[in-house]
Parts: sequence; C-alpha cells; structure tokens
Amino acid sequence: MTPAVDLTLPDDWHLHLRDGARMQAVLPHTAQRFGRAIVMPNLAPPVRDTAAALAYRDRILAALPEGSDFNPLMTLYLTDATSQDDIDRAADSTHVVACKLYPAGATTNSDAGVTDIRKISRVLERMTRRDLPLLVHGEVTDPRIDVFDREAVFIDRILLPLREQLPDLRIVFEHITSSEAVRFVSEQDSHVAATITPQHLMLTRNDLLAGGLRPHNYCIPVLKSRNDRKLLIEAATGGDSRFFLGTDSAPHARSEKESACGCAGVYSAHAAIELYAEVFHAAGALDRLEAFASFHGPDFYRLPRNTLKIRLIREDWTVPASYDFGVDTLVPFRAGSQLKWQIEDA
Ligand code: DOR
Ligand code: ZN
Repeated sequence: MTPAVDLTLPDDWHLHLRDGARMQAVLPHTAQRFGRAIVMPNLAPPVRDTAAALAYRDRILAALPEGSDFNPLMTLYLTDATSQDDIDRAADSTHVVACKLYPAGATTNSDAGVTDIRKISRVLERMTRRDLPLLVHGEVTDPRIDVFDREAVFIDRILLPLREQLPDLRIVFEHITSSEAVRFVSEQDSHVAATITPQHLMLTRNDLLAGGLRPHNYCIPVLKSRNDRKLLIEAATGGDSRFFLGTDSAPHARSEKESACGCAGVYSAHAAIELYAEVFHAAGALDRLEAFASFHGPDFYRLPRNTLKIRLIREDWTVPASYDFGVDTLVPFRAGSQLKWQIEDA
C-alpha cells in the first residue's frame, strides 16, 4: 500500500501573489493546497492602507478557481508615512491581519519601505496596543554589511532593541535563514515566531553558486551554509510552536530571473506542502508536519485551525520545466526534478 499522511488543511503564512494576469497564473497552485495565506503587500505601488488591501483582496477572490474557499489574509506595507489611524483602520477590519516591515531597499519593491525604524515608533506602539502583528523582512541594508551577515546583524541592531522597547508587540521574523535567527527566536517568549521556506530547508548557497550560477535558486535572504540549513531543519521539525510554514513563494518571469541583474525569489507554490513533506520525511519527523503546517500559524495569529483535511501520498512525480506566467513563463523550484509526495486527487 502507498504510504499516506493525512493533514489538517495547511495555510501559507508568507506568500507573494502579484497581481493581474500573473496572479491569475499562480493563484490556483496555492488555492489547491492551502486554506489561507498571508498575502505580501509589495506590489508596485505597494499596498499601504486598508482600502488598498481590501481592493487587492477582492481582485484575489475574483481570480480564484470556481468553487474555491481559499481565504486571503491581507497585510499593510509600512512606510515612513504610515499613520496611527492607518493602523486603527487595519485593526478594525476583519481581513487585514498584520503589517509588514520592509527596510527600504532590502528586496523586491521595497523602495517605499521604512528608512529608519525610529520613524515608525508611534505606529509600532499603536500596533502593540491594537495587537496587530509586525511581520519583518529581517535584514539590514547597510552596504558595509556582507549579504550573508545581514540577517544576523538585523537581530542585534533592530530586533533586540525592539523587543526591549515593546515586549508586547507580536513579531513574525519572516523567512529565517541563519543559525543566529533560529537561536534568537528560540530564546524569545511567545510574542515572537518565525516562518521557514522550503528552499532554505532544502538548499544551501552551494546550490546557488557552485558549478555555475543558478538564478532560480536566488532569493532574499540569500541561501546560507550547511550548518544554517541543519539548524533550520531542526527548528522546523522539532515541534516548537514558534516555527511555522511560510513559503515566500515569489514568482518572477523567466526573463527577469535569467538576466544580468536577476530578480530575487523562488517560486514554490506549485508543490509547497509536498516539498515540506519531503523535508520532514527525510528528517524522520512526518508526524510533526501537521503542527508546523496547520496548527502553529493559526495559533499565533489567533485564528481558528482549518477543519478540512488533505491526504499526501508517497508517489514520485516530475515537476514541469515551466508554467505559464501571463506574457512570459515561470520556472518553478525543482523544475524537471522528481518529488516524492503528491496530494491525493490534486
Ligand atoms: O526573494 C525574495 N523575493 N525575497 C523577498 O523578500 C521578496 C520576494 C519577492 O517579492 O520577489
Ligand atoms: Zn517574501
């Protein structure tokens, strides 16, 4: 008999859906696998207020495959000009569940992000009072800091002081990549959690740089060392409720990735839960996948856990070389390679 794992329907707590024809192309992959997703606001222009977030949500709902119950959870993009009223409006809405801090210049469409965290101290106080979680892209942008150290330096310069100033602010350290980030989160109380992507659990910087440059494995924060990966796997599979699933699936057109200045982002929505299953299986921790994928996230966000179930079956399949992406194509994570798990009836 084929081995199978039954899971409560999981959620993706960090996702880029883009907009228009591109969103239409990628949304079915996520809607097939997840009940909900936290949708990142780094569109051009960014989703800066509740009205923009609700309009974006309507476009997502309109693009869903017929009959889908997928529920997009919206976020606001913080800028130097975000006001306390913006926070109140978000907290009063049912559909905006968090605010995202992009240090200006850190990543894709982050130019309008926050130039100095002191500029949003009132906003962060209001978020604390309204219990609206802060989602952080945790890297400094200081050009003197090596790209491989930017996450660790962010902990010292930004997160540790912020924890002192606002110990009741709930923070999600997004897409953590380093041993320092695992240690930091492990040492915090229940106000701090972290998402972990499939690519940071499966790859190291060798998969980006050794034997040729592989632009489709390039994302920010950049892949790290074997030891960092080992600690991320231990964190994800270890059962600690502060770590949960967030793919950071970030689609870019093939021509924008395979370029002299390639965009950052790995597209994993086509196989997201299947990839995590492979990691947990290899670690002998399949029995802990459900908590990581389906329980820890909603518990942190204080949302109900999903009630539907999905079944994963152990059966090889080959990831297509590309998917349609509106005008161009999209090269998915692990394109052309075999994966070990499938969703039954997907
Ligand atoms: O690799 C990344 N891609 N990291 C991010 O933080 C943003 C994302 C994107 O939007 O493409
Ligand atoms: Zn992201």
